[in-house]
Amino acid sequence: MKPVAYGELIRKYGEDILTSEGMKLEQKLIQHGNCSVYHHSVAVASMCLKIADKCHLKVRRRALVRGALLHDYFLYDWHEPLPRNHIHGFTHPYTALKNAERDFSLGKIEKNMIKRHMFPLTPIIPRYREGMILCVADKICAVQEVFLGIGQKKHRQHPLNKQYRRNVKAVKGKPETAAAMKRRRK
Ligand SMILES: [Fe+2]
Ligand SMILES: [Fe+2]
Repeated sequence: MKPVAYGELIRKYGEDILTSEGMKLEQKLIQHGNCSVYHHSVAVASMCLKIADKCHLKVRRRALVRGALLHDYFLYDWHEPLPRNHIHGFTHPYTALKNAERDFSLGKIEKNMIKRHMFPLTPIIPRYREGMILCVADKICAVQEVFLGIGQKKHRQHPLNKQYRRNVKAVKGKPETAAAMKRRRK
């Protein structure tokens, strides 16, 4: 699959999520480093598709994309010095699931993906393959964001993840053509 196709798939399966009020709020909330929760979620969805693709795993792509986009749909600033934020790592999957169930209609795979995405910090293993992929993709993206966030003030996306940048472009507007991508790289 061409890299830009991940962005197209994210938009195809997650259009309603990407344009929702909750995701607008996520654009203002920081996840790791200087990366917003919105950008983190798109990056994770993209990484999930990439892992499934590269490892030739048979997955339900719609569920994979939607679960990934909503896995951190907790909708608050976890950096605020509040008592509840001390246990954010353990509790936010449940808050995200509650919010996601309120705003969207979810299948059993998406629900389990969101609830179990902090494995192994929370010790119950995801029930479906899509959930395991999400766990891996989430950790990879988090490491990139934390590492790349050091000493940098303004980036709102993964500076090293070219595919991620293409995906955000594809999600936000028209997918880039191969010729346009080539021009941009020069
Ligand atoms: Fe999370
Ligand atoms: Fe996450």
